[in-house]
Amino acid sequence: MSDTPTDGVTYGSYLALDELLALQHPRSAHPDELLFIVVHQSSELWFKEILHELDLLIDPMQAHEPEFALFRMGRINALMRIVSAQLSALETLPPQHFAAFRTHLGSSSGSQSVQFRAIEAASGLREPHFLHALAEHGAIPAIVQGALARPTLQELFLQLLRRHEVELEALYMGDRPSTLFFLAESLLEYEQQFGQWRFKHVQLVERVLGPLTGGTGGTLGARYLARTIDQKFFPALWAVRAKFYGASA
Ligand code: HEM
Repeated sequence: MSDTPTDGVTYGSYLALDELLALQHPRSAHPDELLFIVVHQSSELWFKEILHELDLLIDPMQAHEPEFALFRMGRINALMRIVSAQLSALETLPPQHFAAFRTHLGSSSGSQSVQFRAIEAASGLREPHFLHALAEHGAIPAIVQGALARPTLQELFLQLLRRHEVELEALYMGDRPSTLFFLAESLLEYEQQFGQWRFKHVQLVERVLGPLTGGTGGTLGARYLARTIDQKFFPALWAVRAKFYGASA
């Protein structure tokens, strides 16, 4: 009998657990450093899955399939909630414990997370200050370049509306919400979830480092991060709300 590709597959081999669980290398003897590494590594795994889902979202958006796009957005939003929730584990890290191993981080910093930048770029950040900050660290990684080359989520959504010959404002009229309305709201939910990660992260940084301590990446720390909260992926979806109150976009 010939071997089938699934012969001998076990839980450990399928998930490559030997490799995965050998990837945590605390550099100090402090017992809390493992938690710090695990939360970062698992966040990066979820970032990988979010990027994958953002890629998969392009097709239904371009193929005019709002129901399927909605399905994808539901998953992306669930993933964002998980990534935020993970930060709670680090809220149990007292400042004196972090200080005991922080020197071992050198100049490494979350601001060098290539996947985080790719998510921001794919979602829609294109402002000059964002592009400038990317270029400051040398050549822009291929994954971020790829994300910058694709249409933003807002562009994809507005294109979808045009194909359906619907104005954005029209989604917010009347008492009977349409599928396109729910898709718009799920995009806004994504923006909110992303903002909540940013806010929770700033609070974590203030809690662990204090509000004025600079970061290992060379920024002003919490003061820098607080300024990033206002960045928007969907300015059109925020602007449409103001129309009901007499303000122009
Ligand atoms: C004790 C926990 C943490 C501390 C003290 C901390 C501290 C900081 C600081 C100070 C910055 C600003 C850049 C710098 O100068 O270093 C930063 C940025 C960042 N951190 Fe954290 N962080 C923590 C946990 C995490 C976790 C768990 C993640 C998940 C991957 C993460 C991801 C990021 C990202 C993506 C940025 C860039 C944000 C931006 O520029 O908008 N951090 N962090």
